[in-house]
Amino acid sequence: MQQWSRRRFLTAAAAATLGVAGGSCGITSRPRPVGPAAREVAAAEARRRRPGAPVREVTLTAAPATIDLAGRAVTAWAYNHTVPGPVLRVRVGEVLRARLDNRLPEPTTIHWHGIVVRNDMDGVPGITQPPIPPGGRFVYEFTVSYAGTYFFHPHVGLQLDRGLYAALVVDDPAEPGGYDQEAVVVLDDWTLGVGPTPEQLQDRLMAQGGMMRGNMGMGMLGQGGGSPALGGSGGQIAYPLYLLNGHPPADPPTIHAKPGQRLRLRVINAAAETAFRLALGGHRLTVTHTDGLPVTPVTADALLLGMGERADALVRLHDGAFPLVALAEGKSGQALGVIRTGQGAPPADAHPGELGGRLAAMAELGPDPQGTLPTAQPDRSHQLLLSGGMMSPQWTINGRSFPDAEPLPVRAGERVRLVFGNQSMMFHPMHLHGHSFQVQQGTRPGPRKDTVIVRPMQQLAVDVAADNPGQWMVHCHNLYHQEAGMMTTLSYVH
Ligand code: C2O
Ligand code: CU
Repeated sequence: MQQWSRRRFLTAAAAATLGVAGGSCGITSRPRPVGPAAREVAAAEARRRRPGAPVREVTLTAAPATIDLAGRAVTAWAYNHTVPGPVLRVRVGEVLRARLDNRLPEPTTIHWHGIVVRNDMDGVPGITQPPIPPGGRFVYEFTVSYAGTYFFHPHVGLQLDRGLYAALVVDDPAEPGGYDQEAVVVLDDWTLGVGPTPEQLQDRLMAQGGMMRGNMGMGMLGQGGGSPALGGSGGQIAYPLYLLNGHPPADPPTIHAKPGQRLRLRVINAAAETAFRLALGGHRLTVTHTDGLPVTPVTADALLLGMGERADALVRLHDGAFPLVALAEGKSGQALGVIRTGQGAPPADAHPGELGGRLAAMAELGPDPQGTLPTAQPDRSHQLLLSGGMMSPQWTINGRSFPDAEPLPVRAGERVRLVFGNQSMMFHPMHLHGHSFQVQQGTRPGPRKDTVIVRPMQQLAVDVAADNPGQWMVHCHNLYHQEAGMMTTLSYVH
């Protein structure tokens, strides 16, 4: 495992370098990649840093830990011994200095998902830093420039699916807010210690040759009922458990509040292979942000979140105890929490009617007028054709599997359009590191996001202001697709 990983890091690094240097891609005079150690990366960070910015110091330990799943002791991998890890909170403009001690038996890194981070702190082994060996440590230090709901996780193998994830909340003291209380809600799909290990699942997916259908006798591998909202299959893995803040439905966590209070939910989908449909019994949810950034608020009955997506929602609470249900979309099973302002006890299989009501899909929200990129024609477009899953265990972007990927060159200052074309029968939550993009809804701008669901056979364009130099991963946030190669690099070049 370790051997394999290390070899793969090296190949990845080599491929990234060679790919850019060797390609012509419309850029003349031998473009050279702007690497994580480039002057431009430090200069971009210097522009973000305010003089005298406070430094927030934290220590994180990644280590095996015993967690309790409704009375069942399971050895997970965790940050600071809990799943999810502790919520990190910083204020916008602060410098986060996070020391990571690796007490895992494998190399690891931390990726700060959604943060417009300096490239050498992005946590991609072999691309932006060497992997941190077992027993090693690394200090991440970067300015945090945007408020919102984020999370962090390793960028190595299937470690995320062993419990290594935690919320990162960036507060803006100047934000009006308009709520009395807030709750961070982290959703996950869980198998370790209950079903096969993530590595066993990956082996089975590989052996299966990517065929999603008719997989009789494959145990956990199955497509579930499918999902119109996802345009087809909900996924390839039927997880034995779905967790809300680390708890299975038999032991739901409780969020306490008072009747009449306005609650801000910060919902994070940290799952490896599951999209969730979230609803709160007896209430409607007003979505105010997605992927940390504000949207034109929309009130809906339920929210749909792909892996890596986040949503903030406001709700005015009634008197009682209400099920907060996250249905595994297109699969069977759910995660459960309870929001309690009074008496009552929702059952573990609570199925509030709101789940079948008006669904807010994140990519279809309206942009916040303040957050809209200035109108401009793209200087450059890249098509990303997403395929795989039928005949081959590999998942590809433009026919190539990472690390044998073709990087997508850009130059600093350009407006870049990425056009995702899903040619497969599964949805892909596509994520870009180090930037937020603006989803294009036909000719109108949609929300700013960093992760967006692309449905089967859908074509979806997003615009990026290329203002953060470096080498940035673009990949599917289905961890098993990412591991099977569905990843490439948005590569700044000189
Ligand atoms: Cu959460 Cu490369 O991603
Ligand atoms: Cu995918």
